[in-house]
Amino acid sequence: MPATSDSVKVAVRVRPFNQREKNAGSQCIISMRDKTTVIKNPETGDTKSFAYDHSYWSHDGCTENPSGIYEPESGSSYADQKCLFSDLGQGVLDNAWQGYNAALFAYGQTGSGKSYSMIGYGANKGIVPITCEELFKAIEANTDKKKQLRVFFSMLEIYNEQVRDLLVKEKAPHGGLKVRQNPKTGFYVEGLKQVPVRSYREIEKLMENGTINRTTASTNMNATSSRSHMVITIRFEQVMVNETGQSNTRSSDINLVDLAGSERADSTGATGDRLKEGSAINQSLSTLGNVISALADQAMGKKKVLVPYRDSVLTKLLQSALGGNSRTIMIAALSPADINYDETLSTLRYADRAKKIQNNATVNESPTDRLIRELKEENARLMAVLKKQGGGDTSGIDLNDNDIQQMLEDNQRKMVDMQMSWEQRLEQARQNWERSHVTDAREEDAEWKHLPYITNVNEDPQLSGVIKHILKKGCTVIGRQGPGDNAIQLRGLGIQPKHVEIETDGTAAFLTPNSPAAVVCVNGIRVRERSRIQHQDRLKIGSGSLFLYIGYPRERKDDVTTYDYDYLMTELAEHDGVSVDIATPRSDHPVHDVANRILFQEFVNLMPKIAEANAVSEELKRFTKFEPLVRSESSHDPKGTAPGKEVMVKVTNNKTKKVWIWSASKFYNRKDLMDELYHKSLDGESTILTRDKDPFWDPVEDVFLGSCHIMLQSISYCAEVDEHFTVHNYHGKEEAVVHVQLLPCNEKGKIIEDDIILEPIDLLGKSLNFMCQIPQCMSVRWINEDASRGVECRFTMPFQKSARTKSVYHKSFVEFDFKQQYTYKAITQKILDYLQTNSLVLELWGKQVNEDQQLHVSAINNGVDHKETQTLKPSDSTNDVLDQLKSRENELETLRGDYEQVRKDNFRLKQSLMKTEDRLKRIDMKTKTAPPQQKKASRERMMSAVKASATHAPLNGVESDSQTGTLDLEFAMALRDFFRDVREVQNGMKDMKDYASTTKQNVGANGLKSSFEEHERKIVKIDDTLNKCLNSLKKSAASALRKSRPGTEK
Ligand SMILES: Nc1ncnc2c1ncn2[C@@H]1O[C@H](COP(=O)(O)OP(=O)(O)OP(=O)(O)O)[C@@H](O)[C@H]1O
Ligand SMILES: [Mg+2]
Repeated sequence: MPATSDSVKVAVRVRPFNQREKNAGSQCIISMRDKTTVIKNPETGDTKSFAYDHSYWSHDGCTENPSGIYEPESGSSYADQKCLFSDLGQGVLDNAWQGYNAALFAYGQTGSGKSYSMIGYGANKGIVPITCEELFKAIEANTDKKKQLRVFFSMLEIYNEQVRDLLVKEKAPHGGLKVRQNPKTGFYVEGLKQVPVRSYREIEKLMENGTINRTTASTNMNATSSRSHMVITIRFEQVMVNETGQSNTRSSDINLVDLAGSERADSTGATGDRLKEGSAINQSLSTLGNVISALADQAMGKKKVLVPYRDSVLTKLLQSALGGNSRTIMIAALSPADINYDETLSTLRYADRAKKIQNNATVNESPTDRLIRELKEENARLMAVLKKQGGGDTSGIDLNDNDIQQMLEDNQRKMVDMQMSWEQRLEQARQNWERSHVTDAREEDAEWKHLPYITNVNEDPQLSGVIKHILKKGCTVIGRQGPGDNAIQLRGLGIQPKHVEIETDGTAAFLTPNSPAAVVCVNGIRVRERSRIQHQDRLKIGSGSLFLYIGYPRERKDDVTTYDYDYLMTELAEHDGVSVDIATPRSDHPVHDVANRILFQEFVNLMPKIAEANAVSEELKRFTKFEPLVRSESSHDPKGTAPGKEVMVKVTNNKTKKVWIWSASKFYNRKDLMDELYHKSLDGESTILTRDKDPFWDPVEDVFLGSCHIMLQSISYCAEVDEHFTVHNYHGKEEAVVHVQLLPCNEKGKIIEDDIILEPIDLLGKSLNFMCQIPQCMSVRWINEDASRGVECRFTMPFQKSARTKSVYHKSFVEFDFKQQYTYKAITQKILDYLQTNSLVLELWGKQVNEDQQLHVSAINNGVDHKETQTLKPSDSTNDVLDQLKSRENELETLRGDYEQVRKDNFRLKQSLMKTEDRLKRIDMKTKTAPPQQKKASRERMMSAVKASATHAPLNGVESDSQTGTLDLEFAMALRDFFRDVREVQNGMKDMKDYASTTKQNVGANGLKSSFEEHERKIVKIDDTLNKCLNSLKKSAASALRKSRPGTEK
């Protein structure tokens, strides 16, 4: 029969808002009319239209009937599951009856509704089950005795380019099942189970078991199912016997594909990462994109297009579905929410390309005898090739001996299958089934109905609630999978050998973590002691194993579906400090801004991955810590108001003390590689890598520590800036104090004092010169933490080239001695406006030296650094205490440095106050000679400039000795208090120093622990006092400053 050419049919479907989107107050950006789908850009309001074969509106307008099925409300255009089946599934069935291959695949970002359309949830069955059900209805209605109808079912998963048979309970063979190529029929999975089925009920059972196998694999391997592809294949054969007794076989392969989430499909997301070749996890999806683009180009008439089917497992298996012998449908699943605009637009574009693909489907019908004859001929040919030394060419495909051997075996199996009667095959399948599955499922079915249990919560709602661990009366130990006797064995990350116990007494349940290292969170909060748990409490065990506790039957009243993965993640994120920075949409003040909502979503997505990365790092002994970081554009913006925020990851190697800041996409890329490494370690493979391939390693880089804003308004008055500014990091924490001077000067660089101008406008057309000096930077936390580090300042003076100070290492009191003259030859209005309304952003950057060569070499040599591991052994308590002592001494040293600094700052503060007073007096003098109105306005502007500078710099000053005589009484009193406090600190420090040396001598003695604790208490007390007195100084000084200004409250 000739091939019929037809294009891939494309349908898009938009789902309702999910809970997270509702909480965030999301807007719907999708609208549909007939076959057209329109998307609106939430920022600009621009729209884009796309036409498809079908546009399904499933966003709203439905009601739930008593059986739990969503149906359209009267008059609404809601497309329900039935509607999808009749448009798409029925066509697949009709094709199958005619003997055409068919394929249906669902594409879209995670959570967009792919599985809902394909598989469905509860009563709302998707296309796959309905199609199977309808197929069997039609088979049962067949009265033609000469026609034997056979259905085979297979179900596989592709994860990280490895194929796993989901109908097999046992762990997949190492490296997954092999994909081989038959020169005639194309690619196939060797040894994949094709189970003959006689009813829809059997298919349902197979799918249930496939889902359980998928869930177990996903949780055990720390592999998220949304990164895997699931392919269900239904092979439908019609064997027809004619009058002469010869049989004809008409067959159809129906491939039903639930693809992995499309986000992060493109590895170019990790632009800038030296390891962007990355892991194989996205290979199938990105190749699918390339295949679709190539086929679309081909269909548009482009010549010499190479279609890269061979680049991934998925595209090999779907070769016939894409541009080959198949009738193919693609469902593009869409999220309606504004926060997903970019991803949804990219799905729409993808679908637009797919609809151009042309397929050539042919009816697969041949006499059965001929099929057997062909297989025999093929075998003979393969044998001949095999005999020729070293394998050879079969129809232009390079095959090695092993491949040929496999093909021979495969053909042999097919021949046996064909010659075996259908009834025999069904009987064989039934026996296999009963051996492998049924028994244990029945037992559990009964138990969870009357006993409490914990059930898994998975990122993929399809896999949530699939596993139930029953809690029998008494104590149930949950721990790492292994030879031990744990009643519940988990293989997830961060699971201790004996992690946690749950005790049930017939009425209530109590949970006790087994050790301080065993991470257990209940409803988002870390639990360290025996605690009662209630029905529907959410448990996080280790770094990512999530469960819902289901209590005794009498407690089970509420609807458990509220607690999905999203809910648990949001709950965990809300109990994490960083969420405060970005405002949580679940708080009382919903965040309406789209950007902030996107940020929160990204944060929620990132947090569990960070926890996993930390656990992988720990398992693989890589000493690397990952923390979320919210990069705030305002830290770099001259107005300090830019709203942009970005979730990033701070990476610290605790051994080398090196720090890197990764973008989220780089982190995700690295995380995939870390997972790959972790899987290798699970398989007992070596995890030793050279540096250039190590996802935990990067060359050292400069790290942004923080910035301060220096108002430039003073410059427009030719008034100097000479102040100490606190450098704050992205999270508002103090990183250092930097002394900055902007001093008006003449063309030759000579500093000019007392030449303040009254009206900045007078500067127009004139030249302006000033000297920028950065003498030093103090209390640099970055260097205090590790003395091998250094810092430098970077800034860009408006309309000038960017500049940086020299880099200074090892000392937290940094002498930059930076000096540079800036000249504006003729001040324009533009420059003047800029100076009046903007700040100079001074950024402090951390420098690091590449001195970890030695450490890394030893890590490569040994897999881990054994020397280091030994010193970290918890049993080695003396070493432990010595380490702590050393770290306390370092802290003491830092404290001493800080104290010295406080003294210096104090003197500077006094000086600065005096200068401010002087300056105000000078202004008063000048304005006396100006007209009254001008005097007032000018004074107000000057005041606001001074005030603005002061708010940025609580500690003002210049180098000089004290002249307390000129200070007012209040300030003198504040200083007296301050010195009194500082004296106390001094005494405390002395005490502590003495104590530290005696403790050192006591190391090894019996009272070691208690003396050390005493040591610690003292340090804490001193720290408190120091903080207290510093705060009090700041308050007193601020109040004195305020009151010393004319025109403010006295
Ligand atoms: N048309 C729809 N009507 C009602 N609910 C829907 C619809 N589509 C999706 N949902 C709901 O949205 C959630 C996510 O859908 P689904 O699991 O199908 O996403 P997915 O695209 O398969 O995601 P993943 O890539 O993680 O597998 C589910 O809770 C599902 O019930
Ligand atoms: Mg899914």
